[in-house]
Amino acid sequence: MNNLQKTDKQVFRIITNEEARQQETLSMIPSENWFSSSVREAVGSVMSHKYAEGNIGSRYYEGNQYIDELEQLAIDRAKKAFNLPKTWDVNVQALSGSSANLAVYLALLQPGDTMLAMYLPDGGHLSHGWSFEPDAKKREKDVKSGLLVYTGGSRKVNITSILYNPVQYKTDPKTSQFDYKEIEKIALKYKPKLIITGGTAYPRIINYRKMKAIAKKVGAFYMADIAHEAGLVAGGAFPSPVGIADVVTMTTHKTLRSGRGAIILAKKELIEKINRAILPGLQGGPHNHNIAGIAVGLGEAIKPTFKKYAKQVVLNAQALGKALQAQDFKLVTDGTDKHLLLIDLSHEPLLGRPFARVLALAGITANYSTMPWDSRPPRNPSALRLGTPVLTTRGMKEKEMVKIAEWIREAMRTAEPWKELSFEQLEKEATKSKDIKQIAKEVKELCKTFPLA
Ligand SMILES: Cc1ncc(COP(=O)(O)O)c(C=O)c1O
Repeated sequence: MNNLQKTDKQVFRIITNEEARQQETLSMIPSENWFSSSVREAVGSVMSHKYAEGNIGSRYYEGNQYIDELEQLAIDRAKKAFNLPKTWDVNVQALSGSSANLAVYLALLQPGDTMLAMYLPDGGHLSHGWSFEPDAKKREKDVKSGLLVYTGGSRKVNITSILYNPVQYKTDPKTSQFDYKEIEKIALKYKPKLIITGGTAYPRIINYRKMKAIAKKVGAFYMADIAHEAGLVAGGAFPSPVGIADVVTMTTHKTLRSGRGAIILAKKELIEKINRAILPGLQGGPHNHNIAGIAVGLGEAIKPTFKKYAKQVVLNAQALGKALQAQDFKLVTDGTDKHLLLIDLSHEPLLGRPFARVLALAGITANYSTMPWDSRPPRNPSALRLGTPVLTTRGMKEKEMVKIAEWIREAMRTAEPWKELSFEQLEKEATKSKDIKQIAKEVKELCKTFPLA
């Protein structure tokens, strides 16, 4: 760092400011974490200089003996962390969760094939395909229809929906949880080639066996995307789909705390195709520095201390949920089984976007989110998503969750008089507010007691 300070003051200043922001505020975005200094060291290492297109032992470039050793180590540790059966194998080269998913589609599907995944506004993920309906009336009609299937709006938003035909299952309107009987009916009707579970905002356990049985019935592959839960699975705090699904994808930078990247676990008979989908299908040289981070992070994840971490992440989220309910907030599905939860703000003075900004000014970083049966657009939805991975990395426990829930209610109370203002005016009021500043000050004090190492 000292050298950067001398050679590039501007970048140094930006990084220093960002580090202070992360230290002095509460990151409650469930997809974020703070990596150990060892992971950061590996990611910042000379491994990023090397080109290594290809797979272990068969690269298109010379000089890869140490890269081979590193990639093998990452694979071996992934096998250990996820208790991989002998009939499964690993790819650690995908650059991100989205590329990992795309690689699986490229390996298992033909363009135009139907895939069945969770409806995005209910908590699914963009990379599972999404076609948005820009016409608000049509969106409203879809919500009112009560149908648990969505076959897409007119705007194909990402490459998955451009190349394939995503059909999406919604959650039960009463419980906001999976309705497996309905998912089976949808699968029987649309006959997808691939069924996907997993998402960014679903707070409950998914029954992988039921999903596999549905996939088997219609002759589909079953992919479980555990991008969010990977660390909880490795730490034994959440059920594992390994050995049940045909393929499991994950990101390494969320609960797994292993630097940025992705891991694909798959039945051995599929891994060759998946490797080829990564290279030459989608990518060039792997990001060896990230693979180094993944290896180090997995090394940490197979230690007993990580089990404690994973368990505490869930306990903290559940404690936060209860404390928020005690503050009269309504939670989607009434709670959580994992590291994240969603507050249904539809009956509160402020919805997701303005409230997320007020909280950010109070030192609590969260993100706005859609929720089941939300007809509002994703840029201005009804819910707020909160998570505990970073708070738990800091060493916070249930007691701190109660305090945080109090601050969140206090912020809403303070913001109530601004509910009719435009977003910009509300931001101005919140920036000036002494009460919001006071929360930010108290948050900073708490953060000082739980520094990030
Ligand atoms: C379920 C799920 N899959 C895939 C991804 C994509 O990961 P990335 O941002 O690394 O592309 C995410 C990211 O949030 C996710 O939540």
